[in-house]
Amino acid sequence: MAPMTKLRMSQKAARFTESVIREMTRLALQHQAVNLSQGFPDFPAPEAIKAAAARAIGEDANQYTVTWGTPALRQAIARDLTRRHGVPIDPDTQVTVTCGSTEAMVATLLGLVDPGDEVIVFEPFYENYGPDAILSGATVRYVTLRAPDWSFDPDELAAAFTDKTRAIIVNTPNNPTGKVFSRDELEAIAALCRKWDVVAVTDEIYEHIVYDGAVHVPLMALEGMADRTVAINSVSKTFSVTGWRVGWAVAPPALAAGIRKVHDFLTVNAPAPLQQAAVFALDLPPAYFQDLAQHYQARRDRVVAMLERAGLRCSVPRGAYYVMTDITGLGWHDDVAFVRHLVEEIGVAAVPGSSFYRAPGTHAIAGGRGRVRFCFCKQDETLAEAERRLEKLKPR
Ligand SMILES: Cc1ncc(COP(=O)(O)O)c(C=O)c1O
Repeated sequence: MAPMTKLRMSQKAARFTESVIREMTRLALQHQAVNLSQGFPDFPAPEAIKAAAARAIGEDANQYTVTWGTPALRQAIARDLTRRHGVPIDPDTQVTVTCGSTEAMVATLLGLVDPGDEVIVFEPFYENYGPDAILSGATVRYVTLRAPDWSFDPDELAAAFTDKTRAIIVNTPNNPTGKVFSRDELEAIAALCRKWDVVAVTDEIYEHIVYDGAVHVPLMALEGMADRTVAINSVSKTFSVTGWRVGWAVAPPALAAGIRKVHDFLTVNAPAPLQQAAVFALDLPPAYFQDLAQHYQARRDRVVAMLERAGLRCSVPRGAYYVMTDITGLGWHDDVAFVRHLVEEIGVAAVPGSSFYRAPGTHAIAGGRGRVRFCFCKQDETLAEAERRLEKLKPR
């Protein structure tokens, strides 16, 4: 057999594809489509937060910070969690500030998981978890979230836990489904984590974006979970600053030590002035956070109505800012072909459902192939334009 050339990417990198979501944004630009694919706001970030960032640069917060974050930001993160959820957090040993929750997740898996370990992921899932697991050498075990309410079968979950399970990733409020895990569901997950001595890694970046009175329950606040949960969060969604790249992982000290080591060698530190501004943001009054949820709820109602009118059946989200839709009622059974039609002929960009399922493009209709995700973190004019364009969408 001819030797494989060494001028190639690693086998790890070859096992995952480029982000479909970011690719959709490129296509949207190419076709001047209204971009309802990638989840970033197209409205301005809050003035006071921008001013805090500008002040920080003026005050010369421009050099490397302590690797795991400025003391002020770590204290603000710990204070905020303790105040809202009653969990005591030591900012010196438990908090690691990272470049967004994206880095927090990969640093957590690289820092805590060994090749051959298993990591449980609910499917559909945020697309980064697959590559993160591959990079850490883990094998993923999937547990299905079933439409329309995206509940899971407790027996299927229990069967996913084995002696090899090292961690479970729980994203609530959930992207792409809009599911907010209930306290009972989280209790069931917690009981299995305790039984099998497993770490829960929570992605809670939409914690403040919940609707219809839904309540976000942090897994780390449940009994016996504070010493086995890594809680990941960031400023991206809560403060509409996805480009700042400031996130964090809060973990028991023994786990934080592993995360910190990896983080140090991946990125050293998150942007210094933006860490300073994040302290200001976290200390905003409760009204800011209530307002955020209310504004998104109005957008959700508008977008769900718009998509239903266009013939797309919606799972109404209870949190986060995405709507998973069923395209089969329009006669489409191939999400990728539908999204291409949508961006090229209708002028609206969305994300094929299969990118939230394993083996993109090959999954059954019951999985991603019959679904498409739209985001609604957009200003009124953008949504109005999408509405106008979607009027052209006809059943096949
Ligand atoms: C569930 C989820 N986790 C993480 C991220 C990435 O967040 P960050 O900007 O903090 O890296 C996103 C972004 O869309 C997301 O939806």
